[in-house]
Amino acid sequence: MINDKLPKIWHGGDYNPEQWDSEIWDEDIRMFKLSGIDVATLNVFSWARNQPDENTYNFEWLDDTIERLYKNGIYTCLATSTAAHPAWMAKRYPDVLRVDAYGRKRKFGSRHNSCPNSPTYRLYSERIAGKLAERYKDHPAVLIWHVSNEYGGYCYCDQCEKAFRVWLKDKYTTIEKLNKTWNTSFWGHTFYDWDEIVLPSMLSEEREGNESDFQGISLDYRRFMSDSLLDCYKLEYQAIRKQDAKNPITTNLMGTFPMLDYFKWAKEMDVVSWDNYPAIDTPVSFTAMTHDLMRGLKSGLPFMLMEQTPSQQNWQPYNSLKRPGVMRLWSYQAVGRGADTILYFQLRRSIGACEKYHGAVIEHVGHENTRVFKEVAQLGKELEGLSGSLLDARVPAKVAIVFDWENRWAIELSSGPSVALNYVEEVHKYYKAFYDANIQVDMVGVEEDLSKYDLVVAPVLYMIKDGFDKKIQEFVENGGTFLTTFFSGIVDENDLVTLGGYPGKLREVLGIWSEEIDALHPSSTNEIVMREKWSNKSSYSCNLLFDLIHTEGADVVAEYGSDFYKGMPAVTRNEFGKGKAWYVASSPDESFLKELMVQICTESAIESLLEVPAGVETTERVKDDTHYLFVLNHNSEKVQIDLKDGEYFDLLEGKSLHGKVELEEKGVFILRREKS
Ligand code: GLA
Ligand code: ZN
Repeated sequence: MINDKLPKIWHGGDYNPEQWDSEIWDEDIRMFKLSGIDVATLNVFSWARNQPDENTYNFEWLDDTIERLYKNGIYTCLATSTAAHPAWMAKRYPDVLRVDAYGRKRKFGSRHNSCPNSPTYRLYSERIAGKLAERYKDHPAVLIWHVSNEYGGYCYCDQCEKAFRVWLKDKYTTIEKLNKTWNTSFWGHTFYDWDEIVLPSMLSEEREGNESDFQGISLDYRRFMSDSLLDCYKLEYQAIRKQDAKNPITTNLMGTFPMLDYFKWAKEMDVVSWDNYPAIDTPVSFTAMTHDLMRGLKSGLPFMLMEQTPSQQNWQPYNSLKRPGVMRLWSYQAVGRGADTILYFQLRRSIGACEKYHGAVIEHVGHENTRVFKEVAQLGKELEGLSGSLLDARVPAKVAIVFDWENRWAIELSSGPSVALNYVEEVHKYYKAFYDANIQVDMVGVEEDLSKYDLVVAPVLYMIKDGFDKKIQEFVENGGTFLTTFFSGIVDENDLVTLGGYPGKLREVLGIWSEEIDALHPSSTNEIVMREKWSNKSSYSCNLLFDLIHTEGADVVAEYGSDFYKGMPAVTRNEFGKGKAWYVASSPDESFLKELMVQICTESAIESLLEVPAGVETTERVKDDTHYLFVLNHNSEKVQIDLKDGEYFDLLEGKSLHGKVELEEKGVFILRREKS
């Protein structure tokens, strides 16, 4: 449990009473109670209010707010306020200001704006976190610490450059080793002294769109920046821990956000929390994948949904409203995939600056007679009813999909073979095939124990980190099924090519070698022509990249249908030890992936949770041997669900269900399995 002071699914969100006059505070409380809000996230952007100068701290307003809420049954998720530095700090200590990739020093403004290597920022952020912890550690209202907010962005200032050199020295110890790793004999880049190294920016190695002339340098810079921001988080974490031994500490992540290596970050977090803001065209399967990824950061532990909008955002190009029922539906999607909290941004809609058109529980009209408020209140009541039944329940999966941020950086930085290759999209394609088949998936990092899975899929595993090839070999030898794709096994963790034929260290387990890689415009396709018969369809379309492979023991499942490599293998399967290793040499269309997943899952006896109509999502949580099956209807019409011989109890409606049942448009079942 995240904190047993509140043993239920938390319901609340970001609350900024400091933006309002005191007359409105009682009204806030009245409305919170009406909507079943029991947690308020406070103090996210209040540094300027808390600390008007170097030595003065004013926390009285926070004392009063925490107390007022607590007296009314509302707990606090307490932020440290360090996500935007005060104006006086920027004026007196310009080292807190970031420099952008074009070398332009920023002035005071916006947020998430502090240089992570600024001594001033580090000193004052650590100090205020410690002061807050000292003051509130024993407050019965405080449930969790929320350090800063949505860490992100890179800095290119001189102090970051100096810190980069120190980070590199630490990593490589000698300049010779660094030169070798970065392959600096290319274009005469040999460094004779650490001081000659500069940050890879628009002034040096990089261009817009993640283009870099030196992937090794750019890759290390991303690792360094992720580490620098993580160091800031850790300073605050430790300052809090020194005072408060009990309450958990988190910071809100952003799903597939590209800039930080979240697997590394999660190790420093007591519980993962994240902000879910799908765009108008984000597929629900993508959101599902992101929840699974956030759950995977800590090997399946439940996570917090720290933010979602009750209705609309303000920062997308098109800020569509969540249609009636959708907020509830997506909230249960989060819970079904491992969230133990439902929190919103924001509780009351602000009147000025850029978030005045961002949805909130309390809208500008100020009363409770709004669609959004009513939907929030209904959900609040339901979450109350679920009480603690689902807390800590796990999401069991037999399939793992590997996701790795450093691999992603290396692919994105790569010059060639194709600008159209998008790692996250390729991963999602495979994820979606399982999602559509109602098969539960864990999204895992390369450090995860693979032996608990029957099937491990690693799309575009371009970078093979030290030892991961051995881990895969062992997994397959012991009977596991492994699948990877084109553009895999190419480089080591420094983006240096593994010589001796692609896919490098995966060559043996896959029983193939790849001689060349063709890259065509995404609109040009080839065909995957089946040699094995899986269905009535004998050929599928593929595009993007096309590996020209030769088998070395693997069976050819399908071959290319055209071009000069017509007849060469397009899909292979290698028996290795007690298991199998598949290779998909191009990017197939959806129908092929569907067939492939059915084929592999049947062979591995991996079953779907339930057969449901298209547009219906299933996911399952399990606690103490009790199974809770979530059935989520994303369609705009009602559907019929066939529960077959299963006997279920719907926690939301409070009634037994079996056989054929109707599920409303945007409707949800949470089905406790009584007997199957
Ligand atoms: C982010 C931030 C919040 C708010 C919302 C708006 O998630 O953490 O402060 O700006 O976006 O969608
Ligand atoms: Zn900097």
